[in-house]
Amino acid sequence: MPELKQLRAGQASAVLAFELANRAYFAASISDRGDEFFDHFTDRYNASLAEQEAGICAFYVLVAEDGSVLGRFNLYDVEDGTARLGYRVAERVAGRGVATATVRELCRMATEMHGLRTLRAATSHDNAASQKVLAKAGFVPDGPATPADLGGKAGTWYQRDLRP
Ligand SMILES: CC(C)(COP(=O)(O)OP(=O)(O)OC[C@H]1O[C@@H](n2cnc3c(N)ncnc32)[C@H](O)[C@@H]1OP(=O)(O)O)[C@@H](O)C(=O)NCCC(=O)NCCS
Repeated sequence: MPELKQLRAGQASAVLAFELANRAYFAASISDRGDEFFDHFTDRYNASLAEQEAGICAFYVLVAEDGSVLGRFNLYDVEDGTARLGYRVAERVAGRGVATATVRELCRMATEMHGLRTLRAATSHDNAASQKVLAKAGFVPDGPATPADLGGKAGTWYQRDLRP
């Protein structure tokens, strides 16, 4: 049974393998991380851990029984009870409800572990899969997202009130 775990130093090589194996798949719907991300992966990874330690972000990985990473689910800019959600799921498990179930789980954890009351997420108009994930996880449209928000594409901001 895959488990959603908070990012730790020991997961670096599994996260890199996930990003490399799915780079082209992700780049078909969201902006590519760029060669710089891969060239300086360890520095970037350590910087993310420091941001997490400081409480600015909370990074989660969905880990399979064999230790491989199936997905990344991240909470950015945690402030005043709100954070921005981002996620990506491995191509090899696409279309099986992994993103939907994990976003739902993270919504629960966002309240319990991080005291959040609201989550926001932006997705482009052409990312139908992500729009479906957000709608099924209880997010509602909340205004336009600009190309600056979405790496060059226009889209929509979604919001979910986490309070029961
Ligand atoms: C978006 C993403 C996370 C979805 O992951 P997933 O685990 O395959 O998602 P789920 O299986 O939970 O749900 C996907 C839904 O979109 C639907 N879908 C998939 N591709 C679609 C398409 N091209 N058009 C319309 N619907 C589509 C699926 O049928 C499913 O809906 P259903 O459950 O009603 O059948 C994954 O495709 C991904 O990582 N994409 C690249 C990164 C990305 O776009 N991240 C989101 C940034 S906002």
